[in-house]
Amino acid sequence: MKNILLIGGSYGIGFEIALQLYKEHNVYVASRTAENLGNLEVNHITYDTITDSIDTTALPDRIDGFVYCPGSISLRPFKSLSKDDFKKDMEVNFMGLITVLQDVIPHLKRAEQASIVLFSTVAVKLGMPYHTSVAASKGAIEGFAKSLAAELAPKLRVNVIAPSLTDTPLAKRLLSNEDKKALMGKKHPLKRIGNTKDIANIAKFLLSEESSWITGQIIGVDGGMSTLNVS
Ligand SMILES: NC(=O)c1ccc[n+]([C@@H]2O[C@H](COP(=O)([O-])OP(=O)(O)OC[C@H]3O[C@@H](n4cnc5c(N)ncnc54)[C@H](OP(=O)(O)O)[C@@H]3O)[C@@H](O)[C@H]2O)c1
Repeated sequence: MKNILLIGGSYGIGFEIALQLYKEHNVYVASRTAENLGNLEVNHITYDTITDSIDTTALPDRIDGFVYCPGSISLRPFKSLSKDDFKKDMEVNFMGLITVLQDVIPHLKRAEQASIVLFSTVAVKLGMPYHTSVAASKGAIEGFAKSLAAELAPKLRVNVIAPSLTDTPLAKRLLSNEDKKALMGKKHPLKRIGNTKDIANIAKFLLSEESSWITGQIIGVDGGMSTLNVS
């Protein structure tokens, strides 16, 4: 039985990961809210990556898997973005990650081979209008992940999932009705938007021994968006 720490996990993709793992593993969910977890048998730690230090005494000595879920989708033209807007995206996507990871690395090093799973976006590989700020902060994650994977191999593996549009609370403004979902789906070669299972399935695989020879990868889970042009 592994100890898996999800930063986020109270809803969205992280919640689906918790749902897929909690019966077989000890799952720790560190998030600001817990209501949506209901009776799910996970250990909840109240935590805000932006303002708090994680309570390491609430964590097990050994952590086998770590997933960082907080992210943003703030789409605006570059000319209307302030330096503070860029800083905010950088805070939630990247600075929060490195802060908690520095606290958690000693726990990860006690595992035989730990797995770290991070999230980028399709918009790093495929340039898209209005994505400058979020693409910059997710681009930081991609570069960071590859360097860290090199630094920590063979003891720790580090991989990044780069989703395209996925139906979660984070994307609710872009997917507020069925027409919008259908329209967004049509833009993808596989003709639909993503769901939380599409992404959580890959996270589960990356946390398992099944992926023990995979590290330093950016894995597009995007309905073909980043690599295919079928128009
Ligand atoms: N959905 C998409 O279309 C999409 C596309 C590309 C990439 N991604 C990336 O995939 C990842 C997961 O996305 P998602 O759609 O599942 O997001 P989501 O629906 O917003 O869920 C995010 C999770 O992180 C937690 N969280 C947010 N801010 C936090 C903070 N400051 N401190 C601690 N926990 C925090 C939330 O819980 P609390 O609010 O309870 O803290 C929640 O459990 C993100 O990194 C996102 O950028 C998503």
